[in-house]
Amino acid sequence: MTCDSYGDARLAAVYDALNPPGADTDFYLDLAGDTPLAILDMGCGTGWLATELARRGHRVIGADPAGAMLDIARARPGGERVNWVQSDAAHLDLATRFDLIVMTGHVFQVFLDDATTLTSLQSLRRHLKPGGRLAFETRNPAVLEWQDWTASQTQTEVVVSGKRVSVHYDVVDVAETIVTYETHFAFGPTDRNVSIGRVRFIDAARLGQLLIGAGFADLTWFGDWDRSALGAGSPEIIVVAGQARGRPQSRPAPRRQAAKAG
Ligand SMILES: C[S@@+](CC[C@H](N)C(=O)[O-])C[C@H]1O[C@@H](n2cnc3c(N)ncnc32)[C@H](O)[C@@H]1O
Repeated sequence: MTCDSYGDARLAAVYDALNPPGADTDFYLDLAGDTPLAILDMGCGTGWLATELARRGHRVIGADPAGAMLDIARARPGGERVNWVQSDAAHLDLATRFDLIVMTGHVFQVFLDDATTLTSLQSLRRHLKPGGRLAFETRNPAVLEWQDWTASQTQTEVVVSGKRVSVHYDVVDVAETIVTYETHFAFGPTDRNVSIGRVRFIDAARLGQLLIGAGFADLTWFGDWDRSALGAGSPEIIVVAGQARGRPQSRPAPRRQAAKAG
């Protein structure tokens, strides 16, 4: 049993096969645009997006606390174009300031409480240039997606380095906003591994309050990767945040129903 699958080299190696680039990747590539920017990919994982952004001419730093994920990122074709840094969001301390910080693949949901979330968001805000933006997503708690994280509904098989790996998820606990789930890996009949992950599900109103408390402003909300408006049944809560001028403001959080795509 391992605590999460990101710190273990053999489990990290399965990540790309389970998570190929998709509509979320296109969303973030479009957001970065064609004009070269300084971009931080926070929680970059195995580095697919960071490497692609660098290939398109952006100056990219990919940061992640998991050494096993960064090892894969460094070895990726084109990985030499990116500067890789081992750090979590809260403890990031770079001299560089960024036009755009992205946090993809639901990284935000690993911040399990308000204190960690605020510290992490404040740290990211400090790393933005004036006028810079932070963009990330979190799964909409109203959709109860974790109810589908059962063995029968998630069972899949991927091929990694020519070998079949069978994978499924299983939720083991739901305590208020925190969902604890297992990821079961079968590398062979007797070669199995189970890792435990915990994620927080937060609604848009609370997320807006935390962003504003951390010094962000001009929040633009989307409900899916096609940039559709955020609504009660949207699968994702996607936010693009600018910075408040001067001290962090306290402003009413957006109500999800009223939020609209910018
Ligand atoms: C689901 S993966 C997402 C990877 C990548 N962004 C993607 O879209 O494929 C989550 C990543 O968040 C990283 N992570 C875990 N805790 C973190 C923290 N406190 N701050 C930043 N990243 C963190 C993990 O190491 C892991 O690589």
